[in-house]
Order: sequence, then structure tokens, then C-alpha cells
Amino acid sequence: MQGKYYLIISKNTAQMLIINKALKENEVDTDLVPAPPETGTVCAIAVKIKESDLDRSKRILDENSIDVKDILEEKKFKLQGLLDKKLGNNVITDEFIAILKKIEEGEDLERNEIVYLLSTNNKKEIELIYDAADRIRKLMVGDVVEIRGAIEFSNYCKKCCNYCGINAANSSVGRYRMTEDEIMEVVDYLQGLGLKTVILQSGEDMQWSTERLIALVRRIKEKTGMRITLSVGEKTREEYEALKEAGANNFLLKIESINRNLFNEIHPDDDYDYRLQCSRWLKELGYINGSGNIIGLPGQTNEDIADDILYFKDMGINMIGIGPFIPAKGTKYENHPHGDVNLTLRAVAVTRIVCKKVYIPSTTALASLNKDAQVWALQSGANTIMLINTPDRYKKDYRIYDNKNMVDLEAALYAVEKAGRKLPSYLKVN
Ligand code: 5AD
Repeated sequence: MQGKYYLIISKNTAQMLIINKALKENEVDTDLVPAPPETGTVCAIAVKIKESDLDRSKRILDENSIDVKDILEEKKFKLQGLLDKKLGNNVITDEFIAILKKIEEGEDLERNEIVYLLSTNNKKEIELIYDAADRIRKLMVGDVVEIRGAIEFSNYCKKCCNYCGINAANSSVGRYRMTEDEIMEVVDYLQGLGLKTVILQSGEDMQWSTERLIALVRRIKEKTGMRITLSVGEKTREEYEALKEAGANNFLLKIESINRNLFNEIHPDDDYDYRLQCSRWLKELGYINGSGNIIGLPGQTNEDIADDILYFKDMGINMIGIGPFIPAKGTKYENHPHGDVNLTLRAVAVTRIVCKKVYIPSTTALASLNKDAQVWALQSGANTIMLINTPDRYKKDYRIYDNKNMVDLEAALYAVEKAGRKLPSYLKVN
């Protein structure tokens, strides 16, 4: 897809959603993308439209008396000088040079080219891949590392995912379920820190019914006005819609692997098509849509990872969490080796190169394998960090894998500083 695009910038999230809805209802093809850094962080998301829809969109917004802050032409993507670096005695292949040229021009990469980037062992090529990813990150989402606060509010789960330590069949974990008041206490703390987004994550816990979640979302919204990210698994379209109406903004529901056989192998009680359908609904409903994968699953190939990345791009996924597999005691894969840190970093870099304007967290799973891996991910294309704010008395039991790093504010500050990046202005730390 080449050609010009325009970004409609709104004053706030509510307005952005009204714009998106009005355009969609009139069959304008829209995409929600992070607003360019120069528009500030007030409204992090812009509505992207094609040039051919520009006049019609303006008319629709006008007729419906919907205000916009600005409409900008999306800057033509252009990177220069990726290859200017001294090559010295290093030999790089013609195939690689051709791929780099495509990256410089902002052209879409083919599957075999993505596989090449994931697979090369050539040191210089690897260095150039990281350099390209880091520059695209800077160009697309700037130097600020967004900080989110996560509350893992229940580890009860009805599902039996083979990799996951809190799966229903694992009797070696102590189960807990936070109350609404306990959750609100943490939310207040996060608001005190100045954070703008709270992530509510849990297993698929039937006791935390959609009705209860709706009440919680409303309460957080009314009390704090914070953006709310839900990560509570598969639901019906009606449930997603009701949660959206209650005030949820973002939803994380990872595909884990887009390879149907691999997905089925790791998710004995999930339906591949239903998972994909959920993601489509979330997008249609106007959620900022999160997905992601696990690197190092049994039998996973670089071709599989390339397909994951192409899926994120084609689905217009806005947030992409990429973490290494880490074995969890009491699960089918407890003796399977953990995923490779370098391959995970490479997947982060290639995802940034392919998907461009997206949020990519420097994941907790990476931090769990190496304290500095979170720094490396920030230098390989990642731009957000999720703090774990589950109360101490519970967090050891949110054991989705073993030896989980409890990324706290201190760890995040360390990573941002060491990566030479900026803290968000909303963060209140002294
Ligand atoms: N290793 C790595 N990531 C895991 N997750 C769950 N279990 C594991 C594991 N053993 C990830 C999944 C899920 C997210 C909350 O945690 O990707 O979506």
C-alpha cells in the first residue's frame, strides 16, 4: 500500500473515538495509529485515512459538527544513510543491501526478506538491523519511553495453555483474587505517580464476571480519568462492547503464534479462529488493539515469527508484546529451554521495522532473563515499559513463568536512563 495518508489529530481520546466512529459509519477506511511525536502526548492516538478519503472525511466531520485539532499529511517515510556506516572489511550480502534499500524507502518487505532479517548471523548485518529499528523508533514514536502500571488482579484461570504457569490444571500455584477496593488502592497509587494508563490483567476468571469488570472500569474512570487497558482474555463481542462503553480504552489479547498448528498445540482448549475473531472485534469496536507473540515455543521457526509480524502489520495491531518463552513449573513445557534473548531482540527490531508506528513494550519476560535485556529492547525498537504493581502479598503467585522479574519504578528508571532515553513528562518522580 503506497500513496499518501492523512492523520486526524484530536484534542483528546473521547474525541478521537467520536471521529473514528463517525468515519467508520460512513464507510471510510480508518486506522488508529500513535500520533506523531510533534503533536504532543495529549492525544496519543491519531485517526489515519487515505488521501482519497480526505475531502469526504472532512465533509462528514463538518456535517456532524465534530471538531478536530489538526489534519496533517502523514510524513513520507524516508530514512537515509542506513548504509553510510563504514563497512570496513565486513562483507554484507547483496540480498541484505537490497532489503536495506527497501527499508530506507519505506517499502513493504516480503516474507522471505523478513525471514532473512530474523535469521542472519552476519555481525555487521545484525548491527545494521538494530540501527534501522532504533532510527525508525525515534522517527515514529520519539524518545519518550511510555510507562504503564499493571495490576494482575486475579490468577484464577479456566484455560489450560500449555506454556502458562497459572493455567487451570497447575495445582502448584496459590490462587488469589483481588477485590475491587484492593485494586482501587493500587490505582490511586498509580495516579499519584502521574501515570496515564492502568493495565488490568488476570487469568480468565469467571468470578471476575464482565458485570464486575464493568463496575470496576466505571469506578476507575470516574475517580481518576486514567486510560484503562484490559488484558482479561477471550469474551463475546457484546462483552467487549459493554466494557468499551464503560470506559475501557485498550485491550491486550495476544495471538502468541499465528501458526494454526502451533497455536493449537500450545492452547489445547482454545479455538484459533475465535481468537482471531476477538482481535477483529476489538479493532472494530475502536479499542487500541494489542497483540504479540512468544519467542522460543516448541517447534517454532523463524518463518513462524515472520508470519506473526506480518499478521501484526496486516491487522493494524497498535501494541505488540514480544517476549521469550520461559518455562513454568507444573506445566507441559516445564523442561523446555527458555527462548533466546537475542532472537527476541531481533524480533522486536524487525517488528519495529515492519510495523513502524506502534507501541512495543520492553517486556517483563525479557527482563526476567537478563536485567539489561530491557535496556537492549529499548535500543532495538521498543518504546514502553510496564511496571508490575500487583501488591507484594499476591505477586509471587502471578507466576505465568518462573523467576519473573517484578519490574518496578526503579528498574524502569534504570532502563530508560541506561538506554539514553527520556522519561514521560507526566511521571512524578523525585
Ligand atoms: N513464557 C513467556 N511468556 C508467557 N506468557 C504466559 N506464559 C508465558 C511463559 N511461560 C505471556 C503470554 C501472555 C502474557 C500475559 O504472558 O504471552 O499473553
